[in-house]
Formats: sequence, C-alpha cells, structure tokens
Amino acid sequence: MKKKNFYILAVAFAVLFSSNLFAGHHGGEKPMKKAILLVAFGSSEESARISFENIEKRTRTAYPDVPVFWAYTSHIIRNKLAKQGLLLDSPEVALAKLSGEGFTHVAVQSLHTIPGFEFHDLSRVVTSFKNMGAFKKIIQGYPLLATQEDMERVVEAVLKTIPKNRKKDEAVLLMGHGTHHPSNVFYTALMFQLQLRDPNIYVGNVEGYPEIPEIKEWLMEKKIKKAWLMPFMSVAGDHAKNDMAGDDDDSWKSILTNAGIECEVVLKGTAEYDEYVDIWVDHIKTPLAHF
Ligand code: CO
Repeated sequence: MKKKNFYILAVAFAVLFSSNLFAGHHGGEKPMKKAILLVAFGSSEESARISFENIEKRTRTAYPDVPVFWAYTSHIIRNKLAKQGLLLDSPEVALAKLSGEGFTHVAVQSLHTIPGFEFHDLSRVVTSFKNMGAFKKIIQGYPLLATQEDMERVVEAVLKTIPKNRKKDEAVLLMGHGTHHPSNVFYTALMFQLQLRDPNIYVGNVEGYPEIPEIKEWLMEKKIKKAWLMPFMSVAGDHAKNDMAGDDDDSWKSILTNAGIECEVVLKGTAEYDEYVDIWVDHIKTPLAHF
C-alpha cells in the first residue's frame, strides 16, 4: 500500500471513530453546517501570502454566511512553513477536522490553474471522504480553467492585466507551469483564443508544450523586437523569478535577449489580480448551489 493511501485510510479511521458521524442514527438530523475549504498548492513567498489573503477576503465577501478554511497540498511547503511556526493542514487533515467539528456540507475549492494531476489528486481525497460518509455533501469546485466560459473570462483577464504601456507589435509571453497530464492542452487552447483577440500573445510552459525553444522560433519568425514576460501561475515564485526572469543563461529572459528580443518582466502571479481571483471565487457557487 502506498504511504499516501495508508495515510488517508488512517485519517479515515480517525474520523469514523472520533467524530459524531453516527450521531444521525441516534440523535436525529444534524443541523446543516456549511464550510468552504480553499485548497492551494501552497507557497512560502511573501507575495503569495498577500494573494492568499486577498482570495480569502473576496471569498468571505462573496459568501458571508459560510466559514472559510485553508489546506495546502504541497508537503514540502507545509514543512517549510511549519519551521516558521505556521501550521497549514493537508486537505486530508483539514477535512477530517471539519468532519470532527460537525460540518455537514463542504465546498472544496481548488485554487489550481488547470485540472491537472493536483486537481485530480484532490478529487480522489474528496471522493474518499464522500465514500466514508464523513459529510452529507462534499463537492469540489473547478480550477481557474475548466469550462469554455472560464476560458473566455481568462482571455478577458489576460487582456486587462497586460501593462498599458505595451505596444501592439510587442509580444506578451505568459509563462504557464505545464504538465505531463493530458490537461496540458488547456495552455495551447488558451493561446489560440488569446490570439484571436491579439495575435502577439503567447502562452508557453516551463514543463510541457510549447516550451521556450518553440516560442523563440515563433517570435523570431514574426520579427518581434520586444516581449513582455508575465507568469501564468497563481504565485510569482521560483519559476517566475528564476526560470522566467532570472539572469542565468537558460532563463526565458536570457534566451530571448540573446536572440535579439528585448525583454520586459512583470513579476506578479495571477492570484494578485482580482480579474483572475473572481473566477476561482465564482466557482464556489456551483458546490454551494447543490447543498
Ligand atoms: Co514546478
């Protein structure tokens, strides 16, 4: 048995034997108690803390009657924060606590960008808690990009957040994370729909098609002289600071600069802009509507 599976099972037993899960059979119907669990990969960056606070504030404003909780999926980030005295729960632990505290309906909102591995890992956790009967209802909300409507809203968000002083003949290059998951196609789908509006906007990935060699070719074919580099990740963390904007030879900035393309860097994650945050926050509506 994989360590992670064993861990989920252990949490499951803890929930079953410690909580009021069986209360319904003896003490009548439990009153409805709703919760929102926001789930992010996590970050130890200061800028991320500000973004996460903003997401929480906008969530509380949109759903004032529902308490908001957090979980981070990355154990590396959780361990790093624990050393600074900040204790963050994994989704498994957060859900076990919510069940123990008598919450009956939980909206689990993924703060991921695409429905890739992490989104589907979270789905398995949600399904496990559902199968255990830990809540009356537990429903997961979509990440930033899932439906065609999301795609159109993200296109608008990109167009609105490009710096105003960028000229039309200058490229805008968004750096996505990219993945080996089939959902990597969301990035090229987004690029296609962006280019219908503005042919000089590109979406590339750190790991996953298209990467910087392809993008460089395309920019050179178009004789682009200048490119604006912006992260298409919720947090402007390590990838944005080093792989995108770093001074090493293999950073996007260096590769393009060496190809004769002047680079301007914007170091802000998508979670720093309300245009993107509101898409995630709106996605919580769907689970809440089914309670
Ligand atoms: Co990465």
